[in-house]
Amino acid sequence: MSGRYALVGQPVAHSLSPRIHAAFGAQCGIALEYGLIDVAPEGFDAAVTAFARSGGAGLNVTLPHKEAARALCATLSERARRCGAVNTLIRGSNGWHGDNTDGAGLVHDLTERHRLDLRARKVLLLGAGGAAHGVAPALLDAGIESLWIVNRSPDRADALSDRLGDPGRVHTRYWDDLPNLGVFDMIVNATSAGRSASAMALPSSLATERTLAVDLSYGEAAIAFLSWARSQDCEITLDGLGMLVEQAAEAFRLWHGQAPDTDPIYSELRAGAVALHTAE
Ligand code: ATR
Repeated sequence: MSGRYALVGQPVAHSLSPRIHAAFGAQCGIALEYGLIDVAPEGFDAAVTAFARSGGAGLNVTLPHKEAARALCATLSERARRCGAVNTLIRGSNGWHGDNTDGAGLVHDLTERHRLDLRARKVLLLGAGGAAHGVAPALLDAGIESLWIVNRSPDRADALSDRLGDPGRVHTRYWDDLPNLGVFDMIVNATSAGRSASAMALPSSLATERTLAVDLSYGEAAIAFLSWARSQDCEITLDGLGMLVEQAAEAFRLWHGQAPDTDPIYSELRAGAVALHTAE
């Protein structure tokens, strides 16, 4: 199915999504138009309605609209319900169907592209905003041993923990407790600290060379956390570029019914990664 698609967010000017979806479309022989809609929160619902009226068939949703997108959906996938956030909208006869491909994208990147086994890992999730909500259910489904959610504002960590409903494996701790939590097998940075001027101070007791360090951002936004991880001798440090490509592939599959090969566009973007601007 061809048609009109777009990414809606703010800001979106530096997004790689149009390039990624154009590459998938060319590869699969699907003619599609993929645009960018830059809109502030107060204009989100009207922008989505106008897009649907003009024949829009699907939307990717990024900051700061993932929770608003969930609210306007007629139906939700099970994983979108568990995340409490929507990053992919699919137009149906009864309105929008919402899904969330972020978590599947992250796990696919880690387990398929990088051949990492996530099972039985003690995982620290830094942050409890939209990005953390998007990936937490998929990490649990991937068989991690435990998920420790630590957020600067503790109420958001508690809200995410409550939503996940897995008290045997999900724990929350205060930011000030970080030095007392021991070593983790995996640390996921889901904060937006790298996109802001406010630095994030982490204790060295959290990581050893065996700790897998993952930043959900890419480009400049991932530099600070991944530099910290390398300074702790972490042997595997990954940014969110692979996740970005994989979540796009999953959205493409939902819209068009075909699963594209992600390797060509991932390699192309990785080759130019130093020039990448920010996360979306
Ligand atoms: P996103 O969709 O990228 O997750 P968000 O929902 O605004 O964006 O969430 C940003 C996350 O980064 C939050 O968990 C935020 O912590 P608070 O909930 O306490 O605001 C976290 N964050 C941002 N800057 C941070 C910093 N300098 N140190 C620690 N956490 C930070």
